[in-house]
Amino acid sequence: MEKEYWPSRTSFVFAAIGSAIGLGNVWRFPYICFKYGGGAFLIPFLVALFTAGIPLMILEMGIGHKMGASAPMAFAGTGRRKEWLGWMAVGVGFIIVTYYGVIMSWCVNYLGFSFNLSWGTDAQSFFHNEFLNRTTNFKDIFSISPKILLGLAISWTLIILCIWKGAKTVGKVVYFTVPLPWICLVIFVIRGVSLPGAEAGIAYYLTPNFEALKDSAVWLAAYTQVFFSLSIGFGVMIAYASFLPKRSDIVNNAFIISLANCGTSFLGGFAVFGALGYYANQTGVDVKEVLGSSQAVGFGLAFIAYPSIISTLGKAAVFFGVIFFIMLLTLAIDSAFSLVEAVAAAFMDKYNAKRLKVNFSVAIVGCILALTFTTRAGYYWVDIVDHFMNSFGLAIVGLLECLVIGYFYGTRILRDYVNSKSEFAIGRWWDVMIMFVTPAVLGISVALEIKDRIFSSYEGYPRWAEFTAGWAIVIALPIIAFLLMRSKGRRTV
Ligand code: PHE
Repeated sequence: MEKEYWPSRTSFVFAAIGSAIGLGNVWRFPYICFKYGGGAFLIPFLVALFTAGIPLMILEMGIGHKMGASAPMAFAGTGRRKEWLGWMAVGVGFIIVTYYGVIMSWCVNYLGFSFNLSWGTDAQSFFHNEFLNRTTNFKDIFSISPKILLGLAISWTLIILCIWKGAKTVGKVVYFTVPLPWICLVIFVIRGVSLPGAEAGIAYYLTPNFEALKDSAVWLAAYTQVFFSLSIGFGVMIAYASFLPKRSDIVNNAFIISLANCGTSFLGGFAVFGALGYYANQTGVDVKEVLGSSQAVGFGLAFIAYPSIISTLGKAAVFFGVIFFIMLLTLAIDSAFSLVEAVAAAFMDKYNAKRLKVNFSVAIVGCILALTFTTRAGYYWVDIVDHFMNSFGLAIVGLLECLVIGYFYGTRILRDYVNSKSEFAIGRWWDVMIMFVTPAVLGISVALEIKDRIFSSYEGYPRWAEFTAGWAIVIALPIIAFLLMRSKGRRTV
């Protein structure tokens, strides 16, 4: 099989930035920031970025580049029986993309709705009752919504087209999917901060509450946010770095990608908080109340709060509605296809499979698994899977990556390799982060989460549902990974 390469260095940097900048930057970051101390949250966030985010970014890009292979084969190259860790990483990524596709489908639908502001005056009821037609009956898994299914098919078609010829196609698509949402975001920041009442919202965003720094939950939230946001622990950066030519920089690129991503998160906060401040002003309630309401949290922000705000913009409402959902779609698509690409590259490396065959198989299996998410109970299933994959899947993979490189392969070997390729060198601090700091934080975070889940089910959902969508997947992934490692195919690169 002929090896794939990026058309240029810029296309690699763009693709990696596109993967990192996603829905997480515009809703998750601002909300987490508000919840955990406002402006003061930037301190743990920056600490997490430099002690864990950037070191792991360098690690993933380093082994991807050194081994010239996607996650499973790259880890196979670090030692006996390490291949399964790579399969774990792409497994977590694959599960994530099954519901990421469904959220994209919601965006596709809402893009359609924004042409006539279909959500009307009660965006909350529209989202829950009309669009999702939500039921708390978890067993209602045959009530597939045709609209959401159609949106899902559209989303997957777009994903497949974007990765048609792998790095070659991706390298071109990202020249469009990276700058476009950025331009939209800048429009929203300008609009957001200039609306009446915006200052009150932004004050909430930036006023530091230093008391919060004493709370361990704040620090853990900062670390999880950094991992998710940088797309680390899914094998994405490993696969992307494997498409780099032998003579290319690693450290500098890792810094550029990480800082661009976090800068975007920070900027996104202005659009979100400015708009929420305005919303509070319009509805005559306190900013704190708007922020504390379920409308402004998670999906609520994108599908309830923002549509409500857009409706108040008079003649420009349709314009802003359309731009907003185009922004979400283009933010999501390059994150989604980076996950599919990580899975596809893994199968191609191991089984020498043809790209098109792999792409279509991933898409079909992904769509079938996603069917549950398109039903009336789908909202809750997405919520559980999302929570478990982020707090366990991602954290466990990140932790194991550090242990494998730190204690089996040797940080020194990888650091020397990375430095030999890079414009500026990393020092021993990197070894300390990979061997001690990051594994300690991730280990504590997994332990605390296990403790919480023993005492109460996530969000109080029924235990059987939590088990099926949460624990069962967390347990099945390592087993499947092990079987894939043992299956017939290449053993090393
Ligand atoms: N980084 C993306 C975001 O912030 C999410 C993502 C995670 C994408 C993992 C790809 C891989 O939304």
